[in-house]
Amino acid sequence: MGKAKYQQIIDDILLQIQNGSLEAGMKLPTQRELATMYQVNRSTVIQALDILQSYGTIESKPRKGLFIADNKWNTYIKDNIQWQTYMSHSTSKNNQYFIQRINELEFRSDLYRLSTGELSPSLIPNQQFKEILAQSNDIPLTSNYEYPLGSLSLRSAIVEHVKQWGIDCTVDQICITSGALQGLKLIADGLLVPQSHIIIESPSYIHSIRTWHNIHAELKSLPISTIKRNINHIFNHSQRFRHSLFYTIPTCHNPTQHSYSIEERKKIVHQCQLHGIPIVEDDVYGELYFNRPRPRPLKSLDHNDNILYLGSLSKSVSPGLRIGWIIGKSTVVSHLADLKMQNDYGASSISQYIATQWLTNPQYHQWHIQKLKHELLIKRDQFLQSLTSYFSNLGTWHIPEGSFYIWFELYHPIDMKALFDLAISHHILINPGEIYSEQANRAIRFSYSYIDVSDIDNALKQLSQLIIQLQ
Ligand SMILES: Cc1ncc(COP(=O)(O)O)c(C=O)c1O
Repeated sequence: MGKAKYQQIIDDILLQIQNGSLEAGMKLPTQRELATMYQVNRSTVIQALDILQSYGTIESKPRKGLFIADNKWNTYIKDNIQWQTYMSHSTSKNNQYFIQRINELEFRSDLYRLSTGELSPSLIPNQQFKEILAQSNDIPLTSNYEYPLGSLSLRSAIVEHVKQWGIDCTVDQICITSGALQGLKLIADGLLVPQSHIIIESPSYIHSIRTWHNIHAELKSLPISTIKRNINHIFNHSQRFRHSLFYTIPTCHNPTQHSYSIEERKKIVHQCQLHGIPIVEDDVYGELYFNRPRPRPLKSLDHNDNILYLGSLSKSVSPGLRIGWIIGKSTVVSHLADLKMQNDYGASSISQYIATQWLTNPQYHQWHIQKLKHELLIKRDQFLQSLTSYFSNLGTWHIPEGSFYIWFELYHPIDMKALFDLAISHHILINPGEIYSEQANRAIRFSYSYIDVSDIDNALKQLSQLIIQLQ
């Protein structure tokens, strides 16, 4: 198989840097010119440039264009080992440019984080974690390697924890992971072959991570509205969906916040059953559904081990614990646990210990979730009020029923890259929608979980002015 066209462009630009035809600080031709030069579509050029930007090889200067990055990497590339060539041929690709920038910028303390999908430090129960560790005189704390499936006491705690939502499982059907993201990675590595077909909701969290791109899975995007409209025959074009797996976030979806109704859930499970399509259910936000009871997980409707269920403490308790879990058929889960041993020999045993105490002691988890939802609702209401004040003429949004995202869609397109950079220069961090779908270039994913409630109004007011300036 020949090299993909975007890869040929990357290789050519790297070669030109290595042989000195392109030097640090030089301006690259425009996307249109590059498309003509390489005789490809503009989207292929954009793909190549995005990857080169993610390597740090080229950099964008607002309103000036793209330049060969003026960093030591490129200055010394002629004399040193050409690591960029190694990196560009790796099967694992770097994060998209926006995501790399956001990951770095999230550590700047002078930014209003209107986007971060993480609880603020004041919402994380660090004090209780300290208490749990202090009490470990009474309850033995060990920090040896754990079972391949993870700590038995934590798995027992999870069996009880998920029972409240109707999921009936045993300890041998659970594998503890270092966060739900590792669960996804294990499924990608352990169950899929290159060119596997993954049906995803569009937009989707999965689009923003490289996991399934890296195994060269073919992503088939279905807009949530299309799934709902065709709920009785979602997968009827059976040829198109053969050998597929359906990845879904049915409750408090990231980024749109959508949750399926119980009837839709039953139909999705039935449709997948009918067409032999396994489901990966990502339920990391389900516990943050504001009203009680929360919508039932698909897994609670599954009687044929058709669903691999992903849970996590990251969004509702603490992302730094890195505790998640996969629930599924025991043979599949054991296989994934074996791969996990090859990867990291298990999630941190100290985190597993904290998580066990956290889940088994009623004074911790239940109380915390109630308080957390209360705090999130205060932030949500402030966010909605400020959106109504400043964004009503600019676009649309829905009221979140849980968790902490708001999917905002502009009425008129603007240059999102320019807005992202302009917002940073005004100390505001946003997540452009195109991270979650190529088509979502008018959208912004807001989050009210990290920003201080007292900063929301000011940050949104400023952002609305920047949008108006770019229109
Ligand atoms: C839908 C979804 N799944 C999984 C994850 C990753 O969670 P974890 O921190 O447990 O790996 C995220 C994080 O943003 C997410 O939004």
